[in-house]
Amino acid sequence: MRAFQLPQAAGIDALKKVDLPEPKPAYRQVLVKVAACSLNFRDLAIVLGRYRMPTKPNVIPLSDGAGEVVEVGPGVTRVKVGDRVAGNFFQRWYGGHAGAETQASALGGSIDGMLADYVVLEEDGVVKLPPHLSLEEGASLPCAAVTAWNALVEHGRLIAGQSVLVQGTGGVSIFALQFSRLLGAQVIATSSNDTKLERARKLGASDGVNYKATPEWDKAVVQLTGGIGVDQVVEVGGAGTIAKSLGAIRVGGKISMIGVLTGAADLNPMLILGKRANIQGISVGSTQMFEAMNRAITVAAMKPVIDKVFGFDDTPAAFRHLESAQHFGKIVIALR
Ligand SMILES: NC(=O)c1ccc[n+]([C@@H]2O[C@H](COP(=O)([O-])OP(=O)(O)OC[C@H]3O[C@@H](n4cnc5c(N)ncnc54)[C@H](OP(=O)(O)O)[C@@H]3O)[C@@H](O)[C@H]2O)c1
Repeated sequence: MRAFQLPQAAGIDALKKVDLPEPKPAYRQVLVKVAACSLNFRDLAIVLGRYRMPTKPNVIPLSDGAGEVVEVGPGVTRVKVGDRVAGNFFQRWYGGHAGAETQASALGGSIDGMLADYVVLEEDGVVKLPPHLSLEEGASLPCAAVTAWNALVEHGRLIAGQSVLVQGTGGVSIFALQFSRLLGAQVIATSSNDTKLERARKLGASDGVNYKATPEWDKAVVQLTGGIGVDQVVEVGGAGTIAKSLGAIRVGGKISMIGVLTGAADLNPMLILGKRANIQGISVGSTQMFEAMNRAITVAAMKPVIDKVFGFDDTPAAFRHLESAQHFGKIVIALR
């Protein structure tokens, strides 16, 4: 079968197309014929050797993929041959608190990922896809969408009428925008690009702030909420944005710490105290969160925003497109 491997975290050109034997599912595992994968910022960080967690030598990249179950191992009851599934980012985090084994089960990092014709996944580490989604759309969900869902719903307990700030227009942020609208919340989006802000408005953002043209975007966000600040921030910028995110929330507002896209931190802890801020670190999510999210996506007939679909052989070009940050939403690789 076809696959890509990363012999060395030495840049996009280090990605190597290889021919590997088809894997076999063992007890409570399933074999999935992968139809599509999607890219996340983390995948680029791994390829560039900038990821904060250790990576398996010669790893098959990408946490996100979807396809059809073609074989089940002994003891499998949750899915059957023919089911359309996606893998959960953590293969060993079914629900509840993440156990010690969770981190060591991250697809495309600590264990092999989805960029292969066939993959073996744990039966508790797959979810059935919403029926209205294509496999390409389903492949966009595991990392970015589950992270946004965990932030807004599990941590944030978002309810109708509240307000959310999403930063930039990448995978996590566009899903956060869509889920916030689905739940009846107001969304303010930031971006470096006015055309992308216009697209965010078309998706339901009430307002957009260009964070390059308006470096004090936190003050703009407070103004847009009648001087109060937003209820929640989906914080993907990290060190370079956290202080301003604290400026942008209302007193008692919530921040989901997700990303590491920018800069160095110079954070005054008094900002946290002053805002009585609730700050929660988010690490993607469990299989049960993924299933709950899929129920909401199904009821709302929500469609993920796919920026561009690349062919399997064009995997390096897909990574370069992610690196360019020209995208809006998700970048997909089709294997069929
Ligand atoms: N903790 C977790 O479980 C978890 C899960 C998923 C992702 N993440 C992290 O979350 C971050 C986003 O991931 P992703 O896959 O969504 O990335 P992505 O699709 O590559 O998004 C990149 C976008 O971020 C925006 N951006 C860059 N610098 C920014 C800044 N200073 N302020 C606001 N926006 C900025 C840009 O949007 P514009 O072009 O519109 O300016 C850029 O296009 C990454 O750091 C990733 O590692 C963490």
